[in-house]
Amino acid sequence: MIEPGLTESGPVDPDTLRLFFALWPDDATRDALNRAGKWLHQHLGGRRMRAETLHITLVFLGSTPAEQLDALTACVDAAQADAFELVLDQAGYWRHNRIGWLGASQAPPQHLELVDAVNAALQGAGFAVDARPHVPHVTLLRNSAGGEVPECMPVHWPISDFVLVASRREVDGMHYDVIRRWPLA
Ligand code: 2AM
Repeated sequence: MIEPGLTESGPVDPDTLRLFFALWPDDATRDALNRAGKWLHQHLGGRRMRAETLHITLVFLGSTPAEQLDALTACVDAAQADAFELVLDQAGYWRHNRIGWLGASQAPPQHLELVDAVNAALQGAGFAVDARPHVPHVTLLRNSAGGEVPECMPVHWPISDFVLVASRREVDGMHYDVIRRWPLA
């Protein structure tokens, strides 16, 4: 297990962390998502997300005092959910935030149960969570002007764990540090 304040890629700001729970792709899925990003970019333009940043947000927490990290990870230890496969078979574009994305036309029940379990664990421990309905998606493009969204080749993503991620803004864009992982049953 990784100690609070440390990540798989080094130390993070000790005072305040910008946090979210996410599905983090294995190498093969990351390659497939990155190829999907190149393909969608040809149709919609915009700025492609770097391969190492690709993920699905499960629950967004935002700025969180680092001293709450222990309580945060402890409450999520109790969240139980099953492993599943996610089939990302739908590309799309959201005009309001100029994002080009890849999503699931049918999110499996296990995915929604996982989101509910993490939300319930957090709320039970007094953490404020985003009340907006969860729409599973991988952001592939930002600042896209949009256009006709084509049919896409599905990406099959085997989900066997979920992670807590801290984000940092650097001169070359956002960087994401995986702080902890929880296996799914
Ligand atoms: P997005 O990809 O649709 O922008 C890190 O910022 C991750 O948290 C991104 O995947 C982002 O989703 C997601 N997120 C969800 N709610 C957010 C919010 N209120 N502000 C910033 N990011 C948010």
